[in-house]
Amino acid sequence: MTNQSAATAAAVPVAVVTGASRGIGRAIAVELARLGHTVVVNYVRNAAAAEESVAEIVAAGGAAIAIQADVALAEDRRRLVEQTLRHYGRLDVLVNNAGITSPGRRDLLDATEESWDLVFDTNLKGPFFLSQAAAREMVRLIRSHAISQGKIVNISSVSAYAGSTDRADYSIAKSAMRMMTELFAARLADENIRVYEIRPGVIESDMTAPVKAKYDALIADGAWPIRRWGQPADVAKAVAALVADHFPFSTGDCLNVDGGYHVRRL
Ligand SMILES: NC(=O)c1ccc[n+]([C@@H]2O[C@H](COP(=O)([O-])OP(=O)(O)OC[C@H]3O[C@@H](n4cnc5c(N)ncnc54)[C@H](OP(=O)(O)O)[C@@H]3O)[C@@H](O)[C@H]2O)c1
Repeated sequence: MTNQSAATAAAVPVAVVTGASRGIGRAIAVELARLGHTVVVNYVRNAAAAEESVAEIVAAGGAAIAIQADVALAEDRRRLVEQTLRHYGRLDVLVNNAGITSPGRRDLLDATEESWDLVFDTNLKGPFFLSQAAAREMVRLIRSHAISQGKIVNISSVSAYAGSTDRADYSIAKSAMRMMTELFAARLADENIRVYEIRPGVIESDMTAPVKAKYDALIADGAWPIRRWGQPADVAKAVAALVADHFPFSTGDCLNVDGGYHVRRL
């Protein structure tokens, strides 16, 4: 499963990318590996896909390991951080990418508590407490001079402000990521840990495959100025730019990767 020797790992920054077996997360994992990070490819169910992500990174000369963990579960989050440290001895970057859409996409008046709990546990509680667990380790590593800085990147969505009445739980959880990003940014600035949010628009992935026709029509109508589907690599390049330290005096920021969807027009 691992292709990285402990001896070489010590000098190389380590990035944990949740939900990196497919879609946007896989692209982020590949991009961070290209940037020189050893990558922990987290997944929940799809072990074969996670190993494909690892293989893609290794084929390009990088290093990665797949670790199964459900970000919605406290014990799994604890194990994800613990296994990362056991394998590589450090943790420099956390990308909170894992997420699910609202199961069944029910109308607001038919929305269920089961869907709310699942979406909030996965898309908000998971990232919050995983950030907490990772930040504690980053602080410890920075104070002991094992690493010099840390980064946390939260992948939210244009759904944070463009609500869908058939995905209330998803929209509300994604909008709460804004405050989560700001709180961690404020708390961790003195610790030399920077925290950012990336807000993707419509990105081609398994998540959007079932609603492809709807988005094809929106793109043809010019719903966003850059008339094409967003690609996972578009998000990955933005994450890499933040992680590459091009914004040393910025924290808590939100970067839109949405083809200009957020630009108001008359
Ligand atoms: N696609 C878009 O248009 C779009 C737009 C805005 C924001 N986003 C956000 O971007 C992120 C990635 O979206 P995507 O389109 O790449 O999704 P995707 O293709 O459905 O992939 C989801 C990934 O998350 C993992 N995952 C799901 N639940 C998990 C859990 N409980 N614990 C750990 N991993 C879990 C999956 O692992 P398995 O393979 O093991 O199932 C998979 O790797 C999500 O947060 C999503 O809300 C997407």
